[in-house]
Amino acid sequence: MVTSLQPADGKTSLVTNLAITLAQLGAGEVLAIDGDMRRPNLHEVLAVQQAPGLSTFLTGQAELADVITATSIPNLSVIPSGRIPLNPAELLASARLREAIEALGQRFAYIVFDTGPIFGVSDATILAGQVEGVVLVLRHGRASRDAAQRAIRNLASVRARLLGVILNDVDVRGNGYYGYYGYYGYEARKEQ
Ligand SMILES: Nc1ncnc2c1ncn2[C@@H]1O[C@H](COP(=O)(O)OP(=O)(O)O)[C@@H](O)[C@H]1O
Ligand SMILES: [Mg+2]
Repeated sequence: MVTSLQPADGKTSLVTNLAITLAQLGAGEVLAIDGDMRRPNLHEVLAVQQAPGLSTFLTGQAELADVITATSIPNLSVIPSGRIPLNPAELLASARLREAIEALGQRFAYIVFDTGPIFGVSDATILAGQVEGVVLVLRHGRASRDAAQRAIRNLASVRARLLGVILNDVDVRGNGYYGYYGYYGYEARKEQ
């Protein structure tokens, strides 16, 4: 599952690129799921209908097989968000989702969940406790150290397994970045 601190940090971009890359590895079928039922847009990026999707299934209005949609990319399927539900957090905490993740795990080599941000609503934290691992996206220049640490504590509170952090949108040509990493790294090597 991919989450971040705030909206527009790059979660959906990362999920899309990650899912496409995994599909292209040819290591089995890949499923991307839009777990951001409040501000969904994975369906737009992958050019499929928004509904039926996750909310349709979780509210009992469709079976799992009916919400898995093929994309134009070989080996990549998607479960779009479905129509925006009244109670996303409740749906994400349901046994129906836990059972679905179990069943989908038998069929797909990789499942990548897009979600909303950690702060504000509990959706992402609820999902984090149910998946194998969590990737936290931090948008460079926007995520503070303090907020990132709070997010990580939040994930730990539901025993989520943090796979790693992705620092998104770093300007590698900018002086700040070069000075911080590249320059000192270079100097350190030169002195050896
Ligand atoms: N590394 C990046 N460089 C440039 N634009 C980016 C980058 N990451 C994300 N964006 C852009 O920022 C906006 C928000 O990204 P998105 O993936 O939708 O974020 P989220 O899903 O966290 O709300 C989109 O317009 C996206 O194209
Ligand atoms: Mg998004």
